[in-house]
Amino acid sequence: MTEKDFIPRTYDTFIEKGRVTYKSPSNIALVKYWGKKENQIPANPSISFTLDACATITTVIFSKMESEKDSFSFDLFFEGKPNEDFRPKIETFLDRIEVYLPFLKSYHLTIETSNSFPHSSGIASSASGMSALALCLMEMERKLNGQMTQAHFIAKASFLARLGSGSACRSIEGNLVQWGEHKGTQGSSDLFGIKYPYEVHPVFEKYHDTILLVDKGQKQVSSTVGHKLMHGHPFAENRFAQAHENLSALKGIFAKGDLDSFIKIVESEALTLHAMMMTSQPYFVLMKPNTLEIIQKIWTYREKSGTHVCFTLDAGANVHVLYPEKEKEEVYDFIQKELVLYCENQQHICDRIGYGAKKLN
Ligand code: DP6
Repeated sequence: MTEKDFIPRTYDTFIEKGRVTYKSPSNIALVKYWGKKENQIPANPSISFTLDACATITTVIFSKMESEKDSFSFDLFFEGKPNEDFRPKIETFLDRIEVYLPFLKSYHLTIETSNSFPHSSGIASSASGMSALALCLMEMERKLNGQMTQAHFIAKASFLARLGSGSACRSIEGNLVQWGEHKGTQGSSDLFGIKYPYEVHPVFEKYHDTILLVDKGQKQVSSTVGHKLMHGHPFAENRFAQAHENLSALKGIFAKGDLDSFIKIVESEALTLHAMMMTSQPYFVLMKPNTLEIIQKIWTYREKSGTHVCFTLDAGANVHVLYPEKEKEEVYDFIQKELVLYCENQQHICDRIGYGAKKLN
């Protein structure tokens, strides 16, 4: 498939006004997307668990205008209040996707959005936010084109979400989504995420992710800036090759349910992401002392308990603690007794693997 496949020909239906709502989850990468080319094309393939509790709910109310405008006409509400802060981001997004949704300038849009996780928790909301908006706009397109197949709907929603924020393209479906061309994965594409197409052991069907909020402050480096640091990075090529190898290795691990090997890849990916930031120009340390305390505690506890708890990190100080369903009681007990004291105000979010975005009535 190419970008051109997402440009619609003509629409067969006329629609005056309407309203659509989607709830779309966040996701946590196991193999990380870090580095991109023009037009939101990833420098390497990535794979993530779709989450469940951390989600954005977005409603788009649309009404046809008398005549098409030169610019986009939209109002923005965040958690019930008018919000201008997100306007530039939405404007850029609409600009990028207009060629694929040519009706956008003919409608006035009221976009209402809210997050299920605490505001300013330091949890990235771009994946859930951009995927929820992309789905609402796709639902508008589906109303204009009655012929659209479900497969096209899903692929194009992911394609559009990617243009808003790369990782957002992995938030349309569940429970494991891969994005980026990889020769070992049939159907994989740089343009959109796909549901992981191979065998997955039942142990990965129910997995927990307890997110420890170590630092709720504003991100020190935005992902957009972070990705740019991979241009001319001395270790970039090796890192991109490593992501391909890790994805290949995960195939057998997912099929067999080999948790020990899973842990080695997931933790190494998290630390490599941070290593890339520590070795770029300019360089950044995004972990906090408490991030390291938590990592050490997890390693000690895992050794002692024989459980399969492990961690992963985003481009920040918060820690995602991953563990399988059958160990959930003992691991959560450990988290409460030994880890939450390293969080800001002991704040943490209990999330788990999820099954993708949902349309709400
Ligand atoms: C560290 O998707 O937030 O979370 O495409 O610039 O919006 P943009 O970046 P974004 O980057 C996410 C990076 C990451 C790893 C990952 O989710 O794969």
